[in-house]
This record gives sequence, structure tokens and C-alpha cells, in this order.
Amino acid sequence: RKANIGVVGLGVMGHNLALNFERHGYWVAVYNRTAEKTRNMIASAGPERRLIGTFSLEELCANLERPRRILLMVQAGQAVDEMITSLRPFLQSGDILIDGGNSYFQDTERRHETLKGAGILYVGMGISGGEEGALWGPSLMPGGPLQAWESLAPMLRDIAAKAEDGEPCVDYIGPRGAGHYVKMVHNGIEYADMQLIAETYDLLKRALGLSAPQLAEIFAEWNQGELQSYLIQITAEVLRKIDEETGQPLVDLIMDEAQQKGTGKWTSQNALDIGAAVPTISAAVDMRILSALKQERVQASQVLRGPTQTFRGDPEHLLHLTRKALYASKIIAYAQGMGLLRQASQEYGYNLKLDRLAAIWRAGCIIRARLLSDITLAYQREPGLVNLLLAPVFREALASHHNALREVLKIGLDLGIPMMGMSTALAYYDAYRSARLPANLIQAQRDYFGAHTYRRLDREGIFHTQWT
Ligand code: 6PG
Repeated sequence: RKANIGVVGLGVMGHNLALNFERHGYWVAVYNRTAEKTRNMIASAGPERRLIGTFSLEELCANLERPRRILLMVQAGQAVDEMITSLRPFLQSGDILIDGGNSYFQDTERRHETLKGAGILYVGMGISGGEEGALWGPSLMPGGPLQAWESLAPMLRDIAAKAEDGEPCVDYIGPRGAGHYVKMVHNGIEYADMQLIAETYDLLKRALGLSAPQLAEIFAEWNQGELQSYLIQITAEVLRKIDEETGQPLVDLIMDEAQQKGTGKWTSQNALDIGAAVPTISAAVDMRILSALKQERVQASQVLRGPTQTFRGDPEHLLHLTRKALYASKIIAYAQGMGLLRQASQEYGYNLKLDRLAAIWRAGCIIRARLLSDITLAYQREPGLVNLLLAPVFREALASHHNALREVLKIGLDLGIPMMGMSTALAYYDAYRSARLPANLIQAQRDYFGAHTYRRLDREGIFHTQWT
């Protein structure tokens, strides 16, 4: 009996995705570089499962129906190239190779180009949702040849998360590296969202002196309203967790050094490359970098001065303001991410459908949130929307929330609490709604020192002035 799909790489993600396919009635051939993992998986799954353990790539390929479908779940980077090279002799024209890792989209473009000549259909597929998602329903972002999508669609729809309206959280994203591009930006938004939540936590902790379990209750309550999202939900659960050994909240014992595997950084880098402003995503990357300077920060905390005052306002009011500030900044961060996608779509010819992207992020993925239903609707109503902030629903939300964001930032400033995510969000909002920015002065300075010329408001043409 031949398998419908092969999975290469049985780490947590590969293992769980294979079981997800199997649960939906597909036969799955599995392979791992170290045979023991494969044997363990087959043994622990039990004999009645539709799993075929294979112990060489040749054996894997021999056990797959044609055209073959192979999902690579190996570490992004060189391991993917190595695996493609090893698999290549056993593949034929029409076979579909899917990279489900967090690969850099330009690598996917290159691999796609290389394999195209041999008729191998290369799919770069973003997968979000962590281990749980992989097993019970991830959000899937496949890009590559349309022909490959047509062959994969029924299976991917089966294993994907289902949104509230029952729609599977997967759709064809676009050609070549589009799937991995979109996953990269998903992660950039994820970074921003996490940073905004972390700032909120920091402010409430420092201003009000609340304990982690008290903060857990606040986030749990917020999760009932417009902020409802997976990241807020898990924040409440994290804050509630008590370390068994010490009896203290576990979060208080965790080293404050954030690590990163690169997707957030790539988002910022690429945004700079194509000229899209994503300051809140970049702030999230910068704050991870600053957090990693633990030793330096500890030393600097002894010598660098800041304000000494404490918060004297009404705690209930601060909670109210902070909830609104978090929602406002979250909308603005998502607007930046969607703006980047819009621009990249033109830059790379990806033909992205922003309403579809928001729709498949409604469930399964890390950034799933109530907000995404509104974003989906906003783009459905107006596919050419130039900036999410201009959609009526968000224009109104910001009209009623931007003052809270200002108030919260003022409090943070007074207390010396770094709120780079929220402050960049507000600055982006204020810049975008400014008919006139001080770039006139920048142009004049450029012309002064470098004869770079400028244009005028009152006349057509290109001008240069002898400033002295
Ligand atoms: C997801 C996540 C996931 C990624 C984490 C970790 O959508 O399921 O984005 O793909 O592994 O976000 O990323 P960092 O290590 O860079 O924080």
C-alpha cells in the first residue's frame, strides 16, 4: 500500500503533522535521519495506525503514490538544501516537495527556481500554531506552483484549523516564496503583539505593584473582550503558573533575556529593503536585542539615572486606559504588518489577497485574535484599502482609543518604563495622520550640505538653493 504523503523530519512539528494527516484518514510515510525516532514513532502510535516507517529516502520515495507529496520538516537553512540534494535522485517530474519550516523566503525562491527545470513542484509553506496546532489544526500558508496547491488542497484543508465559521485556515498564498514571505510577516506581527503585551504587563506590575497571579486575572478578563486572542490567553495562563519548588510565580523566576530565531529580524530587514515602515515590529526586535544585554543592563541600572516618582493615580482607571492602549497599539501594529504585505505583493509580484491572509489567521496560528475577523471584513469590503487604519471600523476604534494610548505612554514616561512598542505605534499613527511632516526641513538640510535638490509646494520643478 502506498502512502498519500511523506513526512521527512520527525521533530515535534513533523511528528505531530504526520499524526494529524493520519487522523484524517491519510496514509503517511515517515522518515527521520536517525532511525530511532522513526521506530519510536511507529511503536508508540501502535499497529492500527496508517503510518509507514521508512529508513532511507529511497525507501520513503518508493512508498509514496505518484505524484509524490513530501513534506520537509527540517531545520530552516542548510539542512533544507542538504535534504533536497539527497532526495533529488528519487524524485520525478510532477512530484511535490513542501518545505514546512520557517525558511527565509529568498531561499525558497532560489530552491523553487532550481527545481523548476526538473518539473518538481516546490512549495514553501508557512505553518503556524506550534506543537498543539500541528497536531490538532495549524494555520497553513502554502506558496508555490498553483498546480501543487490543487493537488494538496483537500489534504491541507482537512488538517488545518477551522475558523468559527468552519472555514479551514489554509489557502493558496501566491507563487514562489509567497507562503514563506507571509509566514515571516506573521511572525513579525507576532513579535510586535508579544512586545505590546509585555509592555502592558511591565507597566501594570511596576505602576500598581500587582503580583503575577493578580495580573493573570486582569489578562483573563481582557480576553473576554475586544482583545480576545491566543497570546492574551496564554499570557494569563503563564502569569498564573506557580513554580512547584519555590511556591513563587514561575514567570518571576525566568531570566529576562529574550531569544529569537530570526523571522522577526527578517521582517524588519525586508521592510527596510522594500521601503515599508514597520516601526513597532522593529521595536519588538530591538527590545529583544536590548533584553539580551542582561549584564550590561544590570550594571547600567546602578549608574544611569531615571525618574524616582511612583504612580499616584487611580488603579482602576489605569487598568481601563491600559486595556484600551493595548488594543489601539495592537491595531496599529497589525496595520504595519498588513501594509508591508501589501507593498511586498507589488514588489515581488505575489498577488496577495489580504482578506484571505487575515481569514486564515483567524484560527490555528499564534496571532489568532478576534481582531482578525474585523481585518478580514475590512479587506473584503475594500480590497484596495491602502492602510488598515483607514477602514471605518479601525478609524472609529482608534478615535475612541488613541487618547488612552497617549495617557498610558505619559504614565510610562513619567515612571521611566520603556514602552518602545507602544510609543512607536502611536508615533506611526500620528505620522500617518499628519498632512504635513517636518520632512521639508530634512529636504532643505540635504540641499544645503549636498545640493540634493528639493521640490516646492507652490511650484512645479526641481530646485536647488545657494544657502549661504
Ligand atoms: C508559529 C511561530 C513559530 C516560531 C516561534 C519562535 O507561528 O508557530 O511563529 O513558527 O517558531 O515564533 O520564534 P522566535 O524563536 O524567533 O521567537
